[in-house]
Amino acid sequence: MKKIVITIDGYSSCGKSTLARQLARQLNYVYIDSGAMYRAITLYFIYNRVQWELPEAVAEALSNIELEFVPNEQTGFSEMHLNGENVEHQIREMLVADKVSDVAAIGAVREFAVAQQQKMGAQKGIIMDGRDIGTTVFPHAELKIFMTADTAVRVERRFKELYAKNPQITIQEVKENLERRDYIDTNREISPLRKAEDAIILDNSNLTMDEQLDLAIQWVDDIL
Ligand code: C5P
Repeated sequence: MKKIVITIDGYSSCGKSTLARQLARQLNYVYIDSGAMYRAITLYFIYNRVQWELPEAVAEALSNIELEFVPNEQTGFSEMHLNGENVEHQIREMLVADKVSDVAAIGAVREFAVAQQQKMGAQKGIIMDGRDIGTTVFPHAELKIFMTADTAVRVERRFKELYAKNPQITIQEVKENLERRDYIDTNREISPLRKAEDAIILDNSNLTMDEQLDLAIQWVDDIL
């Protein structure tokens, strides 16, 4: 059967990765979480005290970074490995969330990540989520989805996720982080978060997972 490229872009905590995972399972496609790459680069920069306002420091750091998605045998989903180490848990922490949008706004960082993302999509049969996937990474993707949801719904979702691992976290902290990231992601110079002209909007504020999946499958069927 014909394989396509599916992109899912949108604001933070819209449920992009949840939908992407379900869709990948249903279609037997590869799912790539592009945000995990920016998070892993940020983790490296923090651990190694990289002065990311200096272009030479960024170039040197990037030359020492190897990113790999390694499937978890139990879940079947890929996890982020940074220089051979599984960093899937560390990259989800607030320490990284606080800085990732600043790091992701750096041109050299984006070039580094985008080149790898485009290679991963060369075989098709891929679903990638992020902020610039339908606009910059795969501008010719067959199906582009732009996800959105009410801020309150998004904050609640992310809070629940983070609270399970860190009960110290507050709603206010989560809200500020989401709003700050959305602001930087939409206003940065290079590949800001935008809906691609040919993307379909999916507002999932009031949709169940099954309803979202049904819609997405319908859109895929319409193409194939
Ligand atoms: O998707 P996630 O929330 O994990 O992404 C973390 C951050 O990485 C985003 O807030 C954004 O700054 C950056 N990002 C990006 N481009 C992508 C994916 C993520 O700039 N394609």
